[in-house]
Amino acid sequence: MTINDVFRASDFLIIGHRGAAGLAPENTLASFRLAIELGCPMLELDVQRIYSNDGTPRLCVFHDDRVDRTTNGKGLVKDYTVEDLIKLRCANDQPIPMLEDVLDLIRTYPKVALNIELKGQQTAELAAELITKHTYNPILVSSFHLEELAKFRRIDKTTAVAPLFARWRKDIAAVAQKLDATAINIAATSITQNRMTGLLEGNLPVAAYTVNSASQAATLKQYGVSGIFTDYPDKFVNI
Ligand code: G3P
Ligand code: MG
Repeated sequence: MTINDVFRASDFLIIGHRGAAGLAPENTLASFRLAIELGCPMLELDVQRIYSNDGTPRLCVFHDDRVDRTTNGKGLVKDYTVEDLIKLRCANDQPIPMLEDVLDLIRTYPKVALNIELKGQQTAELAAELITKHTYNPILVSSFHLEELAKFRRIDKTTAVAPLFARWRKDIAAVAQKLDATAINIAATSITQNRMTGLLEGNLPVAAYTVNSASQAATLKQYGVSGIFTDYPDKFVNI
């Protein structure tokens, strides 16, 4: 199953944002498990590069630059070693997973797709390495960092990618085309009917983040948006 198949199979794709971030500690295995149980066909997570004590680079699944908001620790993620980061606890005693942990979890659910969002520098190579070894689930790689995403595309010519935009810009379709993208991911607040009409000419599915209200989802769907990232997949799946 490809990412194209995943979008095609659904009338409106419900993507579990950081798992089910509104219902469980975001970006933890508990959150991803819950999103799968709730029937999300796609999960989204954020990855950042950190180092093990022996200097090996790894990708941790974490959103913020600092650990303060979501864990019992303090300070910048980049200042943690893998060994120290995994000792921290999020709510409900959940540890911070490494990308491999999430890939291991989802491999037994081959219909579940994963959107790996590259946060920050030097994430492309590591992501490409892990994705090459992981042949079990459809994978979509996205990033606000278009240079990092372009680097990923140069290394991995086949995995689906989606440029990610926090704000509207006129060259979105051109950026997507240059990356040979499979989808476009964009802030829901940047979408208007007119802009969507233009984007749809490119024939790529557009996914909007972060949408937690049914009325906003309905409007976006009417504009031609193909799916939403939501913290509350329970509100949308099986509707
Ligand atoms: O990938 C969609 C969305 O997650 C982008 O924003 O800040 O929640 O990672 P953010
Ligand atoms: Mg994200």
